[in-house]
Amino acid sequence: MTDADDERLMSYPAWDAGVRAFHWINLLCVLALVAVGVAILNEKSLGLANEAKVLLKSLHVWIGYAFVLNLAMRLLWGFAGNPQARWRALLPGGRGYLRELRHFVGDLRAGRPRPYLGHNPLGRIAITALLLLLVVQAITGLLLAGTDLFMPPFGGWIASRVAASGVDPGTLVPYAPQMYDATAYAAMRAWRGVVVEIHEATFYGLLVVATLHIAGVVLAEFREGGGLVSAMITGRKTLRSPPVDGKPRG
Ligand code: HEM
Repeated sequence: MTDADDERLMSYPAWDAGVRAFHWINLLCVLALVAVGVAILNEKSLGLANEAKVLLKSLHVWIGYAFVLNLAMRLLWGFAGNPQARWRALLPGGRGYLRELRHFVGDLRAGRPRPYLGHNPLGRIAITALLLLLVVQAITGLLLAGTDLFMPPFGGWIASRVAASGVDPGTLVPYAPQMYDATAYAAMRAWRGVVVEIHEATFYGLLVVATLHIAGVVLAEFREGGGLVSAMITGRKTLRSPPVDGKPRG
């Protein structure tokens, strides 16, 4: 880099503390959920006893609660965070979005990437897809936690429907068919199967979109600079020209 380049570099505040905290907590939770999820997926070939399966699923659910809480806070932060954190800067849509996308892709092809403080128009599509998949995973996960393990928030309600007559629903434990009403339990297993399928398909979808997201960040870093990875730690982006979506501040 020449001295002239150095002179033109300017640092801009981009990601606020809420977005950065969400990003890294989410990454840790998703990595842990994927690791334990893959073990659950292979529980048959691992030859696990019922106690080990319950332990694995309970661990997955406890990490899942942290993941859901963090995700819920991020969804709310879209109404309260700085301009780059807000839904308006995040969702692909709104006035002029398609024109902006066309310009962005055209300039990218011409080797003149436009610098953005928040997400560029392509990044907005990737982030929205990621958030949607995470929300589906959160909802299906919370439902599943209630079905086998009778854990909150739906476990109490499901237990009250599948408990055999004379059995206190509050005492139901996993893998104890003698405590369940066979017909009600079979009916629950039928819809549970669909939810497991969705949870599993979304897991594969997440692997694809997360890989695209990381590839996009690496590519943008090489072509545009801006320190995208360190920006998610320090909150500041370093750009050669003023961002098209914000004003320089400090
Ligand atoms: C990014 C987030 C998540 C990922 C990548 C993920 C991944 C997975 C995977 C791969 C499985 C194995 C699927 C199968 O058995 O066919 C699984 C199962 C499960 N997940 Fe998740 N999960 C996530 C979030 C959650 C959350 C938030 C909860 C609940 C709080 C949850 C609860 C469960 C439960 C209870 C099972 C066991 C399902 C069964 O009995 O077969 N998951 N998850």
